[in-house]
Amino acid sequence: CGIVGYVGDKESAPILVSGLKKLEYRGYDSAGVAVVNRNQLNVVRATGKLRNLENRVVADQPQGNIGIGHTRWATHGRPSDENAHPHTYKNVAVVHNGIIENHLALKEQLRAKGHVFSSETDTEVFAHLISDELEAGKELPDAVRGALDQVKGTYALAVVSALDPHRIVCTKNASPMVLGLGEGQNFIASDVPAVLEHTRDIVYMEEGDLAVVTAARVDVYTRQGQKVNRPTRRIDWTPMMAEKGGHKHFMHKEIFEQPRAVADTVRGRMLLTEGDVHFEGWNLTPEKVRSLSKITILACGTSWHSGVAGKHMIETLARMPVEVELASEFRYRDPIVESSHLAIAISQSGETADTLAAFKEAKSRGATAMAICNVIGSAMTREAEFSVMTNAGPEIGVASTKAFTTQLVALYLLAVKLGRIRGTLSVQAAQEHLTHLTLIPKMIEDVLKCEPAVKRVAREFMNAQDFLFLGRGPMHPVALEGALKLKEISYIHAEGYAGGEMKHGPIALIDEKMPVVVIAPKQPHVAYEKIIGNIEEVRARGGQVIAVIDEDDAQVGGLANHVIRIPAACALLAPVIATIPLQLLAYHVAEMRGNDVDQPRNLAKSVTVE
Ligand code: G6P
Repeated sequence: CGIVGYVGDKESAPILVSGLKKLEYRGYDSAGVAVVNRNQLNVVRATGKLRNLENRVVADQPQGNIGIGHTRWATHGRPSDENAHPHTYKNVAVVHNGIIENHLALKEQLRAKGHVFSSETDTEVFAHLISDELEAGKELPDAVRGALDQVKGTYALAVVSALDPHRIVCTKNASPMVLGLGEGQNFIASDVPAVLEHTRDIVYMEEGDLAVVTAARVDVYTRQGQKVNRPTRRIDWTPMMAEKGGHKHFMHKEIFEQPRAVADTVRGRMLLTEGDVHFEGWNLTPEKVRSLSKITILACGTSWHSGVAGKHMIETLARMPVEVELASEFRYRDPIVESSHLAIAISQSGETADTLAAFKEAKSRGATAMAICNVIGSAMTREAEFSVMTNAGPEIGVASTKAFTTQLVALYLLAVKLGRIRGTLSVQAAQEHLTHLTLIPKMIEDVLKCEPAVKRVAREFMNAQDFLFLGRGPMHPVALEGALKLKEISYIHAEGYAGGEMKHGPIALIDEKMPVVVIAPKQPHVAYEKIIGNIEEVRARGGQVIAVIDEDDAQVGGLANHVIRIPAACALLAPVIATIPLQLLAYHVAEMRGNDVDQPRNLAKSVTVE
């Protein structure tokens, strides 16, 4: 998750550890450094806190003026010393952020050539491939290029070799990497804070770039091997700003990370030509899937909202009954669970006490246990028979954002997979649904452009006392999530309601002071017509309507007081897109009110008490 590298005239290990400390906020489960001394590679790694690595570095005193370091947030293989980076093979050490999609196939090919692997990670493959290229007589930069030619996936990668002890080669594709320029020394890092104490002159690497870094110089080449000049920028951020990538708050940074986070959830899982979905480690036999009579989703908070959206997806695509249970309610009654049930725990942290207890309860009563989690090796992934990781990366803002949208996408993939196995989706239908998904990362980029419009709405309503959020069908969980985000960080009372329920209560609250956010992208069936009815009912009582609508909507625009336009996604994926303006609305209202956005009062990121 965090990468640093140093080459110069100083001892590198302490510089690497101190750089890694600056990346601590990203979250990690293990860390390590590899330094090169003449023709010897010294590697020190430790699970858990950076303190553990620091103690080992102090004890072992690895020598060398060049080195790379890493803090890991597990995606493949549990957190352990062996799975910690750097990974080495013969004379090569690598650190890597990202995911190698074809690592299983590559491992098989390498094993056939006699390679032995010492970790469960996808990253180790890089060390083996590069080592083979070096043995074939290539120079380090070309050896790295040769390895990259064989790898499919995302990477920020840094490599040192004892055979070539004066340079670091690093490259990036979809994961960030920066170069820090010094005098007689140079740095690399996945993120600016790691190098800020040494230099403020930063080069941002671009997609496909490969850099060769020595103490004296930094050379950058394109993927095709052409030398390029990337501009040097002088960074004037404070260390606190740097941690947030220049954003004012982690929450804002995480909202803007969603195109990447969602792409990482989908990566390597979508088999478009087969019209199918691949989950690594999937261990439910087709017979088992066909014999399931019900799915019970167990979750809390925002994760429960993604469960409500997941119910729409799974029921529509796989035609299976789905119940979405508040974990805290499920565990304290005598729930009906049968061996033909599939219990799915949804949790960002994988540690929420109520969800974990409900999950164990369902499992002990005979249900098959699946987890959808963001933290590999967390309690729920250990309890589960099978886990789908959301790959959002560490989420630091207490109010969940990217974890939610990645959960939605993971559920959509699951719904397609179940639909294929159960025969409710033909290959062609599955292909169509997956094609919708390919459009989502770009649509998220586009919807983020609504920020100025959302800010205007936030300014107008920042002093409101109550908010109502309305949505129907798949937009109902979006209304719930919009209301939850707002109350969590702005402390304004907000309620999310299914549109049809408005007449059964909330309508009594509506007056001129009441902003009503109506989530009304064009939906099939009756939902769209009916939600227009809701808008008219609110207007008739003097309420202020803020409508979230499709870009090309001509009807609602004229009825609402304010509109926020979003790109039109298919009905089941529209929640991913429609939630984002509501995250931004909550964020800006809270920010304008001067609240502590990232750590709202009374709330915890992970509630491990019951
Ligand atoms: C806390 C957090 C919420 C989160 C909920 C469930 O209340 O503040 O943002 O949705 O826990 O957390 P989980 O980690 O299980 O998704």
